[in-house]
Amino acid sequence: MIVAGNWKMYLGPDPRLLAERLDGIDGVDAIICPPYTRVAECVDAGLTTFAQNVHWEPEGPYTGEISAEMLTVAGVRGSLVGHSERRLYFGESDLTVARRAHAALAAGLGVIACVGETEEQRDSGDMELVLSVQVAAIREECGEADRLVLAYEPVWAIGTGKTATPELAQEAHAFIKSLLDRPVLYGGSVKPENTAELMAQPDVDGALVGGASLEVESFVAICEAAARSHS
Ligand code: PGA
Repeated sequence: MIVAGNWKMYLGPDPRLLAERLDGIDGVDAIICPPYTRVAECVDAGLTTFAQNVHWEPEGPYTGEISAEMLTVAGVRGSLVGHSERRLYFGESDLTVARRAHAALAAGLGVIACVGETEEQRDSGDMELVLSVQVAAIREECGEADRLVLAYEPVWAIGTGKTATPELAQEAHAFIKSLLDRPVLYGGSVKPENTAELMAQPDVDGALVGGASLEVESFVAICEAAARSHS
């Protein structure tokens, strides 16, 4: 079980306090994705720290970007790629997502690559098509790499309070695994109250948590519930 907390562009909680509270929860690998300005604090606190994005080149004239090598030097262990907010607001394409994932894996980092359909795409019956195209791009560049994890994040469930039902999540996860056989985390309004039923699904291998990762107590409660669901 992996539980990753994506702090997005929020300061997030005190990394030391979080590290203390996470210590002693067995059966869950907790990962924190803080904003860049808090990476050093998270690493120093002993948290497994991922970036929220990573560029495919080792260096160069790419203002605002950061490379896998730079993250490695900073003690970062991996990166999110392809979050729907990157795809929606910053022009991230299936190809750039796959290139970012490949570069991070080649540099020895872990990757959580996000995929997911919008509400419109689901309503028009295109969910499987959208997931196939997104996953195929990642598979083409990365194959079934060891340090690659996928995250299924239905866009309509992110930050909306509308969680996918455990059955919908299970169905999508099984479909994604039929395309690329790697662990799949569920993301989209994960809270302490819905963690157990989501994590009980056979193809749900963990959670990617946004809003509820910004408070120590709710993130810890999610990690505890995930640990219990597989104990
Ligand atoms: P949420 O965000 O938990 O706030 O819905 C999930 C994510 O964007 O990773």
